[in-house]
Amino acid sequence: MKISMIVAYGKNWEIGLDNQMLWHISEDFKNFKKITSGHHILMGRKTFESIGKALPNRTSLVLSKSGFKHDEVYTFSDEKEAFDFARRNTEEELFIIGGANIYKTLFNYVDKMYLSEVDFEGEADAFLEEIDFTNWDLTEQKDYEAIFEDGKLKSPAWKFKVYEKRD
Ligand SMILES: NC(=O)c1ccc[n+]([C@@H]2O[C@H](COP(=O)([O-])OP(=O)(O)OC[C@H]3O[C@@H](n4cnc5c(N)ncnc54)[C@H](OP(=O)(O)O)[C@@H]3O)[C@@H](O)[C@H]2O)c1
Repeated sequence: MKISMIVAYGKNWEIGLDNQMLWHISEDFKNFKKITSGHHILMGRKTFESIGKALPNRTSLVLSKSGFKHDEVYTFSDEKEAFDFARRNTEEELFIIGGANIYKTLFNYVDKMYLSEVDFEGEADAFLEEIDFTNWDLTEQKDYEAIFEDGKLKSPAWKFKVYEKRD
């Protein structure tokens, strides 16, 4: 089973504030839905609480050591149990979807990264650790322009990039 991570981050590696996202880019949401649909998605308890519900057409796995439970998700206190669960369900690509704590502690397991680099700088309290791309190959890239409405910025420019770990 391949283990992938998917994340959107700003110019200073910012990913969230007050347990919320920092921008609204509808094309990025659509992309996230398309990539993760039909798969197991793995997240930290705080990210699940920020989303508030299980995302449709995906199997939600939540990591928690404090005994968190929710009807719509499978909860695990150890990432290896979550990986085994997905493997038993014959998953071929599991997606780590955040947040900061989970990206940091599970980064060594990651084989493939789906990154949205957002042209944003601002206040944040959740950050991605800086990624060293030395052992990664860029296999896909698409650039998106900013969107303005009535002269005001509606959503920032962003670059979608896919990286695969070199063997
Ligand atoms: N920009 C993006 O792409 C993106 C994506 C996702 C999230 N986010 C943002 O990220 C922020 C949330 O990140 P966060 O770091 O505060 O929280 P988080 O990583 O979502 O969740 C942390 C919690 O997960 C549990 N946990 C962590 N590691 C574990 C392990 N190895 N085994 C078992 N349980 C483990 C613990 O839950 P217990 O306390 O219950 O034990 C911990 O408190 C929010 O601002 C959110 O909006 C951004």
